[in-house]
Amino acid sequence: MPIQIAPSILSGDFANMGQTVKALDLAGADMIHIDVMDGRFVPNLTFGPPLIAAIREYTSLPFDVHLMIAEPERSVADYIKAGADRVTVHAEACLHLQRTLALIRDAGVKAGVAFNPATAVDALPYILDDVDLVLVMTVNPGFGGQSFLAPMLHKMRAVRQMLRDRGRDQTHIEVDGGINDRTAKQCIAAGADVLVAGSHVFSAPTVAQGIASLR
Ligand code: DX5
Ligand code: ZN
Repeated sequence: MPIQIAPSILSGDFANMGQTVKALDLAGADMIHIDVMDGRFVPNLTFGPPLIAAIREYTSLPFDVHLMIAEPERSVADYIKAGADRVTVHAEACLHLQRTLALIRDAGVKAGVAFNPATAVDALPYILDDVDLVLVMTVNPGFGGQSFLAPMLHKMRAVRQMLRDRGRDQTHIEVDGGINDRTAKQCIAAGADVLVAGSHVFSAPTVAQGIASLR
């Protein structure tokens, strides 16, 4: 599978999000990763559907929306309406995970399931028909700029093996947190194909250089 780079606007300029996504588009990003935090599921608060709708006109790149929110089933429709192309929910946040994933798919967008670092992926075999991507969190969600958790490489290998064994090699494995040119290489070797990167991309002299160094 081709490797895709999804810069996270969490590390971008909150006063100029339209220009931020435009710059990422021109710099060769494959997707825009949008981190939604509710101050409940994670101890941080970012933005919701109005911001996503507002930046939608600045790029035609897919919006990869990562919902770090409690009870996401209550608002997935709002995020899809605002312009999400992929909606990822956390396994830990969903009491009825399969139903929520089906809800996302039925609305015509791609569905993803995210697992926190300490969450086992035991439920995955039972929901493979309902997911387009598996997001292996490589930090505890909530903040950008944290260090990559190396034990997650084992989780990636286990997920890739599980997908292979079940004829689901087209399902994406996305990694998020502490991704830089060094850890990206390790993740790809472990089976990941979508790289989310916030601080690495935005701390480079230009976002184009940050993306290029990951490529
Ligand atoms: C963490 C978010 C990430 C974050 C990654 O809660 O889900 O997408 O922006 O940031 P870096 O790349 O700086 O670890
Ligand atoms: Zn994220």
